Amino acid sequence: MSTTKDIKRITVQALAEMKERGEKITVLTAYDFSMARILDECGIEIILVGDSAANVVAGHKTTLPITLDQMIYHAAAVVRGVQRAMVAVDLPFGSYQSDEAEAVRSAVRVMKETGANAVKLEGGVEVAGSIKRIVNAGIPVMGHLGLMPQSINKYGTYGVRAKAEAEAEALLFNAQCLYEAGCFALVLEKIPSELAANVKEKLPIPLIGIGAGAADGQVLVVNDMLGITQDFKPRFLRRYADLHAVISSAVTRYISDVKNDKFPSEEEQY
Ligand code: KIV
Repeated sequence: MSTTKDIKRITVQALAEMKERGEKITVLTAYDFSMARILDECGIEIILVGDSAANVVAGHKTTLPITLDQMIYHAAAVVRGVQRAMVAVDLPFGSYQSDEAEAVRSAVRVMKETGANAVKLEGGVEVAGSIKRIVNAGIPVMGHLGLMPQSINKYGTYGVRAKAEAEAEALLFNAQCLYEAGCFALVLEKIPSELAANVKEKLPIPLIGIGAGAADGQVLVVNDMLGITQDFKPRFLRRYADLHAVISSAVTRYISDVKNDKFPSEEEQY
């Protein structure tokens, strides 16, 4: 029996089959060629070029400032590093909310100029029309509900979403709308695990969780899970490395070696 490991390229169909088999889907963000290459070599199924690049690459407080051109720059670099994973790219704030035609234009630009395989966008019923149009153009779309960082100014906090019954009902309705609009997968961010389980029961598409309990797959921001970022410590985040300490130690030793004439050595010269 062939497994996901044998698959040469992760497609929408491969992900649907993984869900059917009950095999978990792994997703991490990446924003550049070198990191994308490592994640791909490790066998990650989806690399998300997240608009979290605005935070962890550019140092902005929110994801709002990143532009479509900047997302395209990151995505094209990631695609160059990937042979097997699906590359999905966030449509940034302001590139799809105005109308359906703008949404299609932005998604087409991402696909044409980066070689990515899918786009992701935030929102429910209000973006369902745009999603239909993008899917009709042949572009796979991943939805994103729950905590939607592009709407931070509407909600005011990055706290857990849909704890109250009315908001939970609205999320279930929006999830159904996104499925009917043609999304091949859905990211659920920072919602009660019971609600995520409820969505999972109702929708046949893969659900990718981040702070949403045991979904069909998990996504984390790579800089957070590798411990490059230090001050972001939500409950859902598991750190798999402390690269901040590793990098600090290496850079400190380099500074000391250069200052003390220990680098370069004889062997490191021409
Ligand atoms: O931008 C991002 O990195 C994301 C993930 C956290 C899902 O949207």
